[in-house]
Amino acid sequence: MFKKGLLFVMLMTAFAFGVVACGGKNTSEPAPAENGGQAPQEGTTGGDATNTEATSLYNANCMACHATDLSGGGNFPNLQNVGAKYDASQISAIITNGRNGMPAFQGKLSADEINVLSEWLSAKK
Ligand code: HEC
Repeated sequence: MFKKGLLFVMLMTAFAFGVVACGGKNTSEPAPAENGGQAPQEGTTGGDATNTEATSLYNANCMACHATDLSGGGNFPNLQNVGAKYDASQISAIITNGRNGMPAFQGKLSADEINVLSEWLSAKK
């Protein structure tokens, strides 16, 4: 009688522990998202969008003389390393006012567009 009772208590205890163990597993926290909030950081400077805009402005306004790859040719200077020669404000002045065989783009391009082109070219060194 006593032994059966003890066995019963032990079984119930084991069962209770089993339930607690299972409950513990079920309430475990969802795994945190490994890459949550880790978006690529390049967007902070808007680099890609600016590059795309600069390239299309260049293709529409400058490519005819300075070539698709900025290599120039003939009387037209190579712009591939122009950022080593001029800073953005100097390039902006050349684009705005023109120089010798280079036409002025004041009135043809907005100040913003000239700015985008100048920044883009000044990074070419
Ligand atoms: C009609 C042809 C022509 C077009 C179009 C043209 N350029 Fe030029 N560009 C020239 C010539 C010619 C020179 C050289 C001027 C000089 O010798 O003073 C020059 C010079 C430059 C220079 C100075 C390069 C250096 O090494 O001194 C920059 C920067 C430049 N161009 C940017 C541009 C940009 C940006 C555009 C488009 C918005 C553009 N050019 C459109 C003909 C052109």
